[in-house]
Amino acid sequence: MDNYRIAIVVGSLREGSINRKIARSMCGMRGDGLECSMVEIGDLPLYNQDYDALPHQPEAYTRFRDQIAAADGILFCTPEYNRGVPGVLKNAIDVGSRPYGKSIWNKKPAAIISASPGAIGGFGANHQLRQACVFLDMPVMQQPEAYLGHVTDDSFDSDGCLKEGPLKDLVAKLAHAFHDWVDMIHRSRAALA
Ligand code: FNR
Repeated sequence: MDNYRIAIVVGSLREGSINRKIARSMCGMRGDGLECSMVEIGDLPLYNQDYDALPHQPEAYTRFRDQIAAADGILFCTPEYNRGVPGVLKNAIDVGSRPYGKSIWNKKPAAIISASPGAIGGFGANHQLRQACVFLDMPVMQQPEAYLGHVTDDSFDSDGCLKEGPLKDLVAKLAHAFHDWVDMIHRSRAALA
C-alpha cells in the first residue's frame, strides 16, 4: 500500500486548539497510509503582493511553500471565526497561491475538517475554504462531510487523543476516506501520464 505525505494546516494558533487535536488524532488513525506533518502558519508575514517582485522572499514564505510543495495531499483542519475562515489561514492560502502562476496548492488533493464547540461545526468556514480551493484547482474530498459540532476539551483525553465514541468513529472514517481519496487522485494521474 502506498504511503502519502500529508501536510496538515490548522487554522488556529491556540495552544489547546481542538482542531489541532482532531488533525493529530486523524493521522494517528491511518498511520499505515498517511505520513502526516504539521505545517506551521503563525509566523507567515501578512501577504503583500509587493513581495512577489522581490528577489528574496520572506524566509517563512519559502519554508512554508517548500513544505506544501513536497506534500502529496493537504489536510485542512480549521475553526470558524465569525462564520468564516480565520485570517491566519486565509493569509496562508494567499501566501501559497503566489507569485502568479506558481501556486503550490495547484492540483493537491485535500480534505477540509472544521470543528467547533458550537452546533454548526464550522460549516461557514468549511465552505468558504472550499470556495478558495475551487479557484486554486484543488480536488477536495466531498464525502464524508466534516462539520464537527459540540467538540470541546472534554472530547479528548489527557494526551489530547479523541475519547471513544461517535466523534472518534467519524474521524476514523474520515482518515480512511481521505487516504482513499489521495490514493485515487494519484493513481488516476499516474494512469493518464
Ligand atoms: C469563535 N468561535 C466561533 N465558533 C463558531 O462555531 N462559529 C463562529 O463563527 C465563531 N466565531 C469565533 C470568532 C472568534 C474571534 C473566536 C476566538 C472564536 C468559537 C470557536 O469555535 C472556539 O473558540 C474554538 O475552540 C476555536 O477552535 P480551536 O482554536 O480550539 O481549534
